[in-house]
Amino acid sequence: MKTGTLHILVLHGPNLNFLGQREPEIYGKTTLDEINRTLVELGKKREAEVKCFQSNHEGQLIDRLYEYRQWANGIIINPAAFTHYSLAIYDALLVVENPVVEVHLSNIFKREEWRHKSVISPACMGIIGGFGADSYFMALRELLKKLRDE
Ligand code: DQA
Repeated sequence: MKTGTLHILVLHGPNLNFLGQREPEIYGKTTLDEINRTLVELGKKREAEVKCFQSNHEGQLIDRLYEYRQWANGIIINPAAFTHYSLAIYDALLVVENPVVEVHLSNIFKREEWRHKSVISPACMGIIGGFGADSYFMALRELLKKLRDE
């Protein structure tokens, strides 16, 4: 049982800055700011500090992973379209070694065939998708549970 404050890094990939406006029938009406605020609040209730970043650039997401490697006890990542082809993010996740949960708002297996493949998943402890913004909140709860139990 791990006690004390846990640190969680949340990374959002490209186009997620437009959540709320971007294809709301698929991604929902909740904005990224609202998701981030809820994640921080949920974290506080569970003695965890949550830091959230969004970038439209692959290299910036990777830089954040390295920057927060020592700080983070666990990582939540929605790599967005990078899910389907970024071997660079996959490799970076292997380097940082922190437990990772992959998150998707939509159920990627229910959509176009090219979305069915995630090159990121093999570097992750688990995947949660298809529950809109709740996918992130479930991921945070489950990740904290796992980290506490370690
Ligand atoms: C997404 C699914 C991806 O296929 C897509 O490119 C995204 C968002 C999701 O959260 O459902 O940008 O990761």
